[in-house]
Amino acid sequence: MDPSRRLANMVPVVSYEEASELVVSKHVRQATDNEVEFMPWKKDILSTLNGQVHTARRRIENPLFARPNLLRFEHEVLDASLERQLRDLFAASERAPVSADLIRLSQFTLLPLTAAFLGLDVEDESAWWESLGEFMRMSSIASALRWKEGDIEQERQECLNAVEEFDRRVFTVAYDRRLALVERIERDATALDELPNDLITTLLLHLPERPRDVILREVLLFFSAMTGTSTMAVATAVHHLDEWFEKHSEDRGKHNDLEFVQRAVFEAIRLHPIPGLMKSAYQEVVLSTGRTIPAGREIFIDLVAVNRDPGIFGADAAEFNPRREFAIGVRPYAFGFGGGAHKCIGRPLATSHDEHSDDAHLDDAVGSVVRIVRRLLELGVRLDPDDPPVLRPGGRQQRYSRFPILFTAPPANGPLSA
Ligand code: HEM
Repeated sequence: MDPSRRLANMVPVVSYEEASELVVSKHVRQATDNEVEFMPWKKDILSTLNGQVHTARRRIENPLFARPNLLRFEHEVLDASLERQLRDLFAASERAPVSADLIRLSQFTLLPLTAAFLGLDVEDESAWWESLGEFMRMSSIASALRWKEGDIEQERQECLNAVEEFDRRVFTVAYDRRLALVERIERDATALDELPNDLITTLLLHLPERPRDVILREVLLFFSAMTGTSTMAVATAVHHLDEWFEKHSEDRGKHNDLEFVQRAVFEAIRLHPIPGLMKSAYQEVVLSTGRTIPAGREIFIDLVAVNRDPGIFGADAAEFNPRREFAIGVRPYAFGFGGGAHKCIGRPLATSHDEHSDDAHLDDAVGSVVRIVRRLLELGVRLDPDDPPVLRPGGRQQRYSRFPILFTAPPANGPLSA
């Protein structure tokens, strides 16, 4: 399968209105059959399941995003990890302003959150984290494969090897330990409190027959779905805000205005979504715009176009504006988290439950991306004027390979001012 040829044969959808109808249409489903054959790590996972099996899997996984869990992930895991990354960065720097690569900073901040969410047993060694960082790099290559043009066989093979290595080096130990715990609790229910609240344990408890291979692939799905998207959202929000502050200096110093920060993050996600959603019409679809999509055709909902539809977002739809007003029913991130039954299950963890957080505060769960961007703004993050961000070449999936930043307002009692 050549993904670019397949894409060229799909029915393109670029209007917000048509996209809104299609994501909830009972006549379309995920177009993943060809893909699963070519990328076997996608078999039987949440994003490729359809119908009742999909609903059942979501019901099993939804409780992981309950409020107490979000609070725990943000306050106990993410905050600690972010401060550790920043402390190391400031401690290692001899000159002001401190410089860093935002992609690495975000990824290594998010990795402990990802490990806690999935249920990976963390080894307290930098080599372990570096190899998890390498798996993160491979998972983002794997998720970009469907958007690549030309020959992708070599990358596909590398991804298959990475799956095997992840299984051997990271997954097996976490899975075996949790399986033993779950089996012990089945013999002695009084130890229920000892069960960790993570993805592997949840799947072991609720998936009939505990299929190890499915649990491994589901873990890989969440691994890639959590990290690449969130890192990109942090980077694009910082990029746009940097430009915004040049023209709107009155908004500098707004890091404690969480509604402003959240709006900026949503706007960045609206402008830089994944390339699109692939659906398949298994019955004819007649749209209210008058267009008919015949049964059997595959559909490409072009999210970049849909999220910039001037009919919905106005003549300045392609511009970043955290003060943008939206019509009732239009989400501030548009289709940045997809839509319909498959809409992003992890949105509460990335940007909190609430779309209109005018009374949000930091003791609450505001979302990992919002929390990271807020802290960076507080430290006076700026793009390095001599070293602009670099996008990875090739493919429709937009990802930065490097993103140099400077901190112009180091912590008051940080190592630089000591
Ligand atoms: C800013 C961060 C994020 C963005 C922009 C994002 C975006 C998306 C998009 C566009 C989809 C496809 C939805 C569709 O097919 O309609 C999706 C699905 C998904 N996301 Fe996210 N995501 C983010 C963070 C997360 C996080 C933190 C997690 C996990 C904790 C996550 C887990 C998933 C999963 C498992 C799916 C598949 C859902 C399904 O098919 O039912 N995502 N995401």
